[in-house]
Amino acid sequence: MKDFKRYLVTSALPYANGPVHIGHLAGVYVPADIYVRYLRMRGRDVFFVGGSDEHGVPITIKARRQGCTPQDIVDRYHELIKKSFEEFGISFDVYSRTTSKTHYRTASEFFRKLYDEGKFIERESEQYYDEQARQFLADRYIVGTCPKCGAEGAYGDQCEKCGSSLSPEELLNPHSALSGNPPVKRVTKHWYLPLDKYEPWLRKWILEEHKEWKVNVYGQCKSWLDLGLQPRAVSRDLDWGIPVPVDGADGKVLYVWFDAPIGYISNTIEARPDDWELYWKSEDTKMVHFIGKDNIVFHCIMFPSMLKAYGDGFIMPDNVPANEFLNLEGDKISTTRNWAIWLHEYLNDFPGKQDVLRYVLCANAPETKDNDFTWKDFQTRNNSELVAIYGNFVNRAVVLTHKYFNGIVPQDLKPEAVDGALLAQVPGLRDAVADNIEHYRFREALKEAMNLARLGNKYLTDTEPWKVAKTDMDRTASILNVCLKLCADLAVVFAPFLPFSSEKLLGILNLDKDVLRWDNAGRDGVIPAGHVLGKPDLLFEKVEDAEIDRQMARLEAIKEANMKAAAASLPVEAQKAGCTFDDFSRMDIRTATVLEAEKVPKTDKLLKLTVDTGIDKRIIVSGIAQYYSPEQMLGKQICILANLEPRKIRGIESRGMILMARQPDGTMRVVSPEERLADGSTVG
Ligand code: 2FM
Ligand code: ZN
Repeated sequence: MKDFKRYLVTSALPYANGPVHIGHLAGVYVPADIYVRYLRMRGRDVFFVGGSDEHGVPITIKARRQGCTPQDIVDRYHELIKKSFEEFGISFDVYSRTTSKTHYRTASEFFRKLYDEGKFIERESEQYYDEQARQFLADRYIVGTCPKCGAEGAYGDQCEKCGSSLSPEELLNPHSALSGNPPVKRVTKHWYLPLDKYEPWLRKWILEEHKEWKVNVYGQCKSWLDLGLQPRAVSRDLDWGIPVPVDGADGKVLYVWFDAPIGYISNTIEARPDDWELYWKSEDTKMVHFIGKDNIVFHCIMFPSMLKAYGDGFIMPDNVPANEFLNLEGDKISTTRNWAIWLHEYLNDFPGKQDVLRYVLCANAPETKDNDFTWKDFQTRNNSELVAIYGNFVNRAVVLTHKYFNGIVPQDLKPEAVDGALLAQVPGLRDAVADNIEHYRFREALKEAMNLARLGNKYLTDTEPWKVAKTDMDRTASILNVCLKLCADLAVVFAPFLPFSSEKLLGILNLDKDVLRWDNAGRDGVIPAGHVLGKPDLLFEKVEDAEIDRQMARLEAIKEANMKAAAASLPVEAQKAGCTFDDFSRMDIRTATVLEAEKVPKTDKLLKLTVDTGIDKRIIVSGIAQYYSPEQMLGKQICILANLEPRKIRGIESRGMILMARQPDGTMRVVSPEERLADGSTVG
């Protein structure tokens, strides 16, 4: 493996149009931060770049909705995001923004050089234009009917109802989100980067020379390359962004995905104006981009092609360890639906517990597939791992030392083989943590760190110093001497993952911050005999059920509000043709209770229910298996149409029909009485 002299680590620049949530942290910033903290602890020269991405259409849309300027929006969220990252210990060397002067200059010069050297293609094409608003319409500004699912309100680039990617031309009944008018087509000129030209080079660089990249990253690159690359427009008709720096480009700005990655360069320049090139243009530098899976094509194909076109010694990323997505309680995290745990809100509810979230998000990181965050798992990982394993070991070691040795590290007066056997395992585990971090397997790395704490607990349980102390203080001294060494090792090995807890542990052990060097893990003499410990304190605290219940109730409330909003925004089915009172009164609708429920074999949709109708016990076959499990139906009181003609369904005679309400999203719910009524009560 190549021995690099320095590291340039970038993490995706989040859009400054909303706060950051746990998905951002788990996918990008926690792994990136673990990586750089580890490298720094090894004494490596690292530069860690972050910043806000402050251009793009969603920001202009938000500003329009809130009746303010895009600058107001990005000013607000840049500060909020920056603060959240600081609070969670994301240790950027620079956190700047793409509205900075340095970035405007850098991105404009970048474009201009490519333009002057003829690296772009100029093309005219027809695009949608709003004559009343007098502006071209970016994809998000065109709304219409989704051609795939028929939903109203689909955008020119995507239908949020069915998730299909769309182009504005595909929308039925397109109209402008600005004026509501149907748009017209107008000719406009744009600049394109001919990605097709770079395809042979990309194929060789990625597919042949970087087979070690993560499977998800390599696979996505391969599919893009196999489909064949097309020239990609790097300008847009918009009034928010960096103006295209050439004559005759009034009203045109750089495409956000052209300017944003240049932000990594600008932010480095801003922080290190004199030696930034060392990080960007030296083959001795290892560049790593931490991103989420939706950014892969831009970081593996688009940005490298831009750098290649620019030349001038710019290096390529050595790796792009993109993560998959984190879901929340089984549902996709969504800013618009407020289905998220926002970092600033988490800190209000769990002050001082940054490391707990860092731990849970790393232990559960979506490294190879989408993963789920649940509050129950959060509680279990805190209570059964951080508190019960790591915290418990440290606490026992420290409290016993205070009890038997006045808080002074005792001498190793009576060593035994078991002590050596324990300490001999430390370097191996430390190296396993390191190797996993260096290969971007952060979950595995964290597991190995926790294994070290597990060893400590097992050692304490096996040696039982609280019993030994009754008869043999010399042996007790040795046991606690070993335990305190392990405590110092834990502070070091956990530091990249749980920086706040390592700092706290150093306080408890009364050790200096500079102990946190990687090779101090397993090194003798870090916490010598005679050293006076600090005050004992709990490293982690239990998370109580009530707190989890509160968080779940909050999510439930959001879910309910979303359902109501969806119901209000979707068209309700039109009223059916009229019926007479006689028609209605012929229907025998009654309450009934489900006595038995089972799936009809070899079907996905059918449940066979035995119900007590008050008149009799009978079987009803109902197509509700996709909405209710048999267990959920058992004991439920429902309403049925009792006098519907019997029908044979899959060979079973069904006598009646269950009343269901169709929801605006197409799902069905049974209609149940609000309170338990006598079975057989007629409804009408
Ligand atoms: O997906 C996003 O949130 C983008 N704002 C990431 C940009 S990364 C880089 F290129 F700036
Ligand atoms: Zn759709």
